[in-house]
Amino acid sequence: MLKSGPRVATVSRTSSPPDLAEIFDPIRQDLESVERQFVRHIESRVELIPEIGRYLQTSGGKRVRPALLLMCARLGGYRGDNATLYAAVVEFIHTATLVHDDMIDDSVIRRGRKTVHSRWGNDITVLLGDYLYIKSMGMALTVDSLELVRLLCDVTRRMIEGELYQLTKVGDVDISEEEHLEIIRRKTAHLFGGCARIGAMLGKLSEARQLALRDYGINLGIAFQLVDDLLDYTADESVLGKPVGGDVREGKMTLPAIYLLQKAGDSARVLLDAMVRDRRFTPDAWSELRALLTEHQVLDLAFERAAGFAAAAKRSLQGFPPTPELDALMALPDYVLARDR
Ligand code: IPE
Ligand code: IPE
Ligand code: MG
Ligand code: MG
Repeated sequence: MLKSGPRVATVSRTSSPPDLAEIFDPIRQDLESVERQFVRHIESRVELIPEIGRYLQTSGGKRVRPALLLMCARLGGYRGDNATLYAAVVEFIHTATLVHDDMIDDSVIRRGRKTVHSRWGNDITVLLGDYLYIKSMGMALTVDSLELVRLLCDVTRRMIEGELYQLTKVGDVDISEEEHLEIIRRKTAHLFGGCARIGAMLGKLSEARQLALRDYGINLGIAFQLVDDLLDYTADESVLGKPVGGDVREGKMTLPAIYLLQKAGDSARVLLDAMVRDRRFTPDAWSELRALLTEHQVLDLAFERAAGFAAAAKRSLQGFPPTPELDALMALPDYVLARDR
């Protein structure tokens, strides 16, 4: 057992995860500017928009995607104003995804607060998400770079494809590991890759380095989502800020469940058929599932898979000159593995 990380979050945490604010210290001022831009761009004469926008902006998101973009821009020595604008753009896109995702997943708590749809209802949530998406593209278009708008459209399209592909697999107990990883790549990892690549493009890094940073982002994003899926089994809900057990309750097989089926055979199949296929979630079944996961050590296996992607992310940084931003990018995969929220 590792000393920290999602597997032991509810058991005995003997050390805290690395401090995100510390990792982001080299770009602290830029992140403050991103917050100001977020607030400025949700201004509208339709008061409901800034009202919900501020509710979302003040709710304590980690800002991993804008930070990634900013750090990659700094890696290339970029010092202009557009990095913070694009960073706000990617946070808008991420926020749009979350408000729609929570409605789709019927999830009532996010960042320790009521989700938008549970507070304002579905009609408003659909439109608010649409507003954030289109606003993000409008913001990107204030800079004269169609190349970056194309990239943003591309990663957003892939994300939506990932969410749709995932829906087609709801209730499918026999989804393969490869299919599951394809969902993750699309719904989460490409946006991470896009953030890194935009930063690299702003920093005018060579094509090879842009691709290395994109690969860094994609691998980091896969690790990030695999850990999110682990936290869905292991986290302390009050720290995580969203419900645990949500994935099986929503009929979703993630890596721990996929591995369990491979290792535990019949006992796991009966349980997963009931919970995932037939959507019969009971506290007893949940306890039984967690006991099986521990018995067959599949949380450890899934964690090792995440660790493999985190290590691949770090390898992509080989050959970059040492700077505080590079140190921060090297620290981020470790944070992702050890995070508890
Ligand atoms: C949540 O993303 C959605 C996933 C891709 C797992 P984050 O964990 O980055 O959400 P916030 O912005 O910090 O709340
Ligand atoms: C991530 O998937 C959502 C997107 C990247 C679109 P999840 O459904 O696992 O995210 P959470 O757990 O609700 O944050
Ligand atoms: Mg969700
Ligand atoms: Mg999740």
